[in-house]
Parts: sequence; C-alpha cells; structure tokens
Amino acid sequence: MNISLIEDKLFIVSEHIGVSVYDFDFDLHFACKHPYLIEGNYPCIMRAGAIADYASEYNDKLNMGLRLVNSPDEHKIASDLEAWYPLIQDLTPRTLIFDALPTSKEIEANFDWPIFLKGSRQTSKHNPDLAIVQNRAHYERVVPLYQNDAILHWQKPVIREFIPLAKTSGTIPGKVPASIEYRSFWWHGVCVGWGRYWYQVPHYTCPDVKVGLAVAEIAASKLIVPFLVIDFAKTEDGKWIVIECNDGQESGYADVQALQLWQKILSHIHR
Ligand SMILES: Nc1ncnc2c1ncn2[C@@H]1O[C@H](COP(=O)(O)OP(=O)(O)O)[C@@H](O)[C@H]1O
Ligand SMILES: [Mg+2]
Repeated sequence: MNISLIEDKLFIVSEHIGVSVYDFDFDLHFACKHPYLIEGNYPCIMRAGAIADYASEYNDKLNMGLRLVNSPDEHKIASDLEAWYPLIQDLTPRTLIFDALPTSKEIEANFDWPIFLKGSRQTSKHNPDLAIVQNRAHYERVVPLYQNDAILHWQKPVIREFIPLAKTSGTIPGKVPASIEYRSFWWHGVCVGWGRYWYQVPHYTCPDVKVGLAVAEIAASKLIVPFLVIDFAKTEDGKWIVIECNDGQESGYADVQALQLWQKILSHIHR
C-alpha cells in the first residue's frame, strides 16, 4: 500500500493491481511526498481496486489520519444499485431487485423477454450469456450458472428492462455488444473527466454526447457523492440513459484520460 501526498493537496492510497485501465503512476506525473507522519485535513482517495468491506477500510484509514473522500454511506449510494436506483429511477432502465433469483413466472409478471440480469454491483465480466436472457428456457439454464458464478452468487439478483442500445462498429469476444456508451467522473457534482466506456473497440463518437452528459449531471446532482462515476449510453431510439453508477475510487478509467482527470480534480482542491 503506497501513501502519497499529491501536490500538497490530496492523499492517494494506492496499490498497483496490474490492470492497465485502472493503474496510474502518480509519482511519474505529480509532485508526491510520502510523509512519515500523516497530518493535515487533506482529502484522501483510495485507488486499490475493488474494496470488499468499505466501512472497515474507511475506519482503518481514519485511524491512520486519512479520511476517504466518500463516507461509507456515500460509497453505498455510488456503488450499490439498490441504493442508487431509487434516486434516479426516471433516468435508467426499469429495475427490480430480489433477495434470491426470482422464478420465470415472477419475471414474466413484470418484464418482457429479453431481460437484463446482473448482481446489484456488477455482471460477471460482461458475459452476455448470463446477462442478456432471451427467454424462459434460457433463464432456466442461467439460474444454476448464476448461483455458481464467483462474481454473481453473493450479489442480490437484479432484473432490468432490456433496452436496445445504439451499436458501435466493434465487438469484443465474450462481452455484451459494445454500444455508444461513456464513462464520466464527478468531483463534488462537477464533471472532471469523461470518455468512451468501450475502450477496446474502434473509436466511436456521437454528435449529441453533450445531451448524455447533461443526463449524467442530473444523476450526479441526485446522488450527491463526492467522487462518483456515472456510465451513460445512447439507446437505439436516440435517448440517453444512465447505465450504472460507481464509486470513483473503484472505477477503471475506460477511455478517460487519467492524467487530465487527476489534474482537473487537483484544480478543484483549494488549500
Ligand atoms: N438494461 C440494459 N439493457 C441493455 N443493455 C444493458 C442494460 N444494462 C446494461 N447493459 C449493457 O451491459 C453492459 C454491462 O452492464 P453494467 O450494468 O454496466 O454491468 P457491470 O457493472 O458489470 O459493468 C453495459 O455497459 C451496457 O452496455
Ligand atoms: Mg458497467
């Protein structure tokens, strides 16, 4: 665990996790100090991948004199669909959250096939066979796979209305179709960076992406989380919707320019 004071403004607690779209070498780009004593009321951001138990991590860092930028409650609002969905229902596909996988009958009472299935935190690495469920027979096949999937089995099952999204030209083997979709980072309600969500496919642009950003801004203003990520996409019929929200600390950059993102965040910290 590396603790750096960046430009005398911000503590970053980081760990190299070996994922190029997540890791960032602060020492290479910024004036970093590694103080022996942690003093001063600087904001602190953790960049150490997914955080299994945020509340205990938060308290652990607090005991070291480091206050993570998102409180445990704010982290929950950012990263747990069950917490963020009620706040932005009108901006995102209609969703039901279950304690255990529902029966096909329960699904059919509320949705048409196909449906989008995920856990309240995430899909299984964007695997389309487990996420885009075409019909009742497909669902019956998915149930045991969900229950035995390392990523999915512990999460609350979430069923979402399937919304056809505007396609890009590229596809990624083993992943849901790459769509016109963007990731945006928000620092206290201000957009500090945005870029293509699907960085693995040929470059795509969209002339009205600003309309999508405005939708993301509304979402950010409803969630009120200090360091927040909002992913948004264009639907086949031309609307912009929120796909999901996340804690900025845990999020990969996708195609967001990391150096500019951190420069922008630092420019918003006045000391
Ligand atoms: N309701 C939906 N209808 C259609 N496609 C969706 C829906 N929800 C998500 N997707 C697509 O699936 C991808 C993965 O879903 P997402 O909720 O972002 O899961 P994860 O948390 O694993 O990234 C999204 O980036 C989007 O392209
Ligand atoms: Mg996602």
